[in-house]
Amino acid sequence: MRLLVTGGAGFIGSAVVRHCLGKGLASIGVLDAMTYAASPRTLAPFGGRADFVLYERNICAPLSVRTALREFEPDAIMHLAAESHVDRSIDKPAAFVQTNVVGTQVMLDEALAYWRSLSDIRRARFRFHHISTDEVFGSLGDSDYFHENTRYDPRSPYSASKAASDHLVRAWHHTFGLPVVLTNCTNNYGPYQFPEKLVPLMILRGLSGQPMPVYGDGQNVRDWLFVDDHAEALWTVLTLGKVGDTYAIGGMAERRNLDVVNTLASHLDELAPCSTSRKDLIQFVPDRPGHDRRYAMDCGKIRRELGWSPKRSFEDGLRETVRWYLDHRDWWEPLVHKTYRLERLGGGVA
Ligand SMILES: NC(=O)c1ccc[n+]([C@@H]2O[C@H](COP(=O)([O-])OP(=O)(O)OC[C@H]3O[C@@H](n4cnc5c(N)ncnc54)[C@H](O)[C@@H]3O)[C@@H](O)[C@H]2O)c1
Repeated sequence: MRLLVTGGAGFIGSAVVRHCLGKGLASIGVLDAMTYAASPRTLAPFGGRADFVLYERNICAPLSVRTALREFEPDAIMHLAAESHVDRSIDKPAAFVQTNVVGTQVMLDEALAYWRSLSDIRRARFRFHHISTDEVFGSLGDSDYFHENTRYDPRSPYSASKAASDHLVRAWHHTFGLPVVLTNCTNNYGPYQFPEKLVPLMILRGLSGQPMPVYGDGQNVRDWLFVDDHAEALWTVLTLGKVGDTYAIGGMAERRNLDVVNTLASHLDELAPCSTSRKDLIQFVPDRPGHDRRYAMDCGKIRRELGWSPKRSFEDGLRETVRWYLDHRDWWEPLVHKTYRLERLGGGVA
């Protein structure tokens, strides 16, 4: 299989690349604009391999996408390229509409033209896999769960742009026959995550003795999935999923934000001891505007129909993640020095 991964230099996309190349499942083409969220170091180990090629291109540029498709000749596309951080979407929503909505439309148009040019056998096998988020469904009460048929109710510029992209993908399937599959997944964590997101941000701030900011009362609940488990789920859906279907993916690990930060502080105290406890660094700060209260996913469909469930427990995965950041300063130090200084985002005042 020849798999083109958009956003393959980012956090989840690069986990897909490692999964596929590590297990010899596919030759990989990565199409990525190498925005602030991509680190060249993430894909460096694959440079020069015969089964790997990087196209540094923007998904919003039709001609760039078209030539990459013609050159790479994929059997499938996994579409992960996106602006992905809710807080940045509050400061600068336009980039989210551009990449997540217009970029997805460009990918669909170019994928459709490419798919139509294929032989009958290759056309029948081709898949366009759109990777999306549970955030498109809005916010839950205390006890219910999102599932594949939950009504869309996005509430941030990020989730609204992802919702729009989901609708476009379904429209290209129903109107033009493009063979698509879709997945909506809960919060990912693990190695190679850009430090703006909760888990790496808390690790790096705690490590350097800076306050560890918790939004609002810290009681917002997220479901957490280790990124390698997500990569395996994506491969499972790509290869076994039913055309036109959506699969909900989650870690079955609901945690309050404050509990996540407390656990990270404990791991840091154990793995990188210092004179005071990192728990003393935890500070409550004004809430994110429009902060959704709870996300949780019913993953019954993918478990029953495709046999996937997460392998890593949240406790093991979180500890492994802390250890990875401690052992990979060479990966995150250049980002923290040049790109993002661990400051608060999302005030809506840029
Ligand atoms: N991180 C999560 O917890 C999570 C959960 C569910 C779904 N998702 C979805 O998974 C996908 C990947 O998320 P992530 O956390 O790996 O994001 P990320 O921000 O780490 O990576 C995004 C990648 O897309 C690239 N990119 C951005 N704009 C581009 C453009 N215009 N053209 C080409 N490439 C571009 C970036 O350079 C980067 O490599 C996104 O679609 C996101 O909505 C993420």
